[in-house]
Amino acid sequence: MKSDISQNSQFSLQNLEPLNNDWDSHLYEDKHAFVWQYGEELLKLLNPKPGESILDLGCGTGQLTEKISCAGAEVIGIDSAPAMIEKARENYPHLLFDLANASSFQVDQPLDAVFSNATLHWVKKPEKAIATLAEGIACVHHALKPGGRFVAEFGGKGNVQAITQALSTALESLGITDVETRNPWYFPSIGEYATLLEQQGFEVTYAILFTRPTPLTDKQAGMANWIQMFASTFLKGLSSDQQKQVIRQVEQSLPEKMYCDGSWMADYKRLRFFAIRV
Ligand code: BEZ
Repeated sequence: MKSDISQNSQFSLQNLEPLNNDWDSHLYEDKHAFVWQYGEELLKLLNPKPGESILDLGCGTGQLTEKISCAGAEVIGIDSAPAMIEKARENYPHLLFDLANASSFQVDQPLDAVFSNATLHWVKKPEKAIATLAEGIACVHHALKPGGRFVAEFGGKGNVQAITQALSTALESLGITDVETRNPWYFPSIGEYATLLEQQGFEVTYAILFTRPTPLTDKQAGMANWIQMFASTFLKGLSSDQQKQVIRQVEQSLPEKMYCDGSWMADYKRLRFFAIRV
């Protein structure tokens, strides 16, 4: 597949897998702006320069893609969710956005950098998780020039552990036994992910795992909104009443320190790295 828009620029993108990825881009923009607001530090690490060609992998609704463009780089944002791409194009009609899958995209011209914020933890297929991850990293490797940089941040080992544990317990109390297969995320340690990067031909020059407690907007509704936005696969097939029961149980069982002054806090842990294509 090649999109019309990318044929007019130095970018030509091929997506090799059918996409089926439903996201609510309005809920994402309205209640979860922290996703790209926290991306500013990562942008500094990327340090985009005028004239560089950069791909924003998992661009969401395009806010960080636009910041990369403001630094003078030629940028394309890709995302596997049609609703996100549609919204990104609406937000920034002068920029390039395309539908593509992080494990199977290709570009025709090698790039200076690939940037990715809050996306890589979604690159997981339970039945062949490691193979799929390696395919995703290999895609990035193929997309880069020698010496090109891969700069990313995503959920690392221990990310949203209290929320995941509370969801599992609440689902198990409803008699649901396949909780692990409902879990869509991959949160690796530095050692695990740096090894995958090295095996695919990257030199990892910087990596850090850090806690970043993240305040959720919307006061009391913050945790329910977060679960509906990001953890909906855990709730698949449940009636609306059962979903409400699970969310209520999660809220009641989370530690007190995650609910301060009437607002929820999510127990995020981030893995940030800088790697160079050898
Ligand atoms: C994260 O950015 O760490 C994240 C977002 C949604 C679900 C899980 C993790």
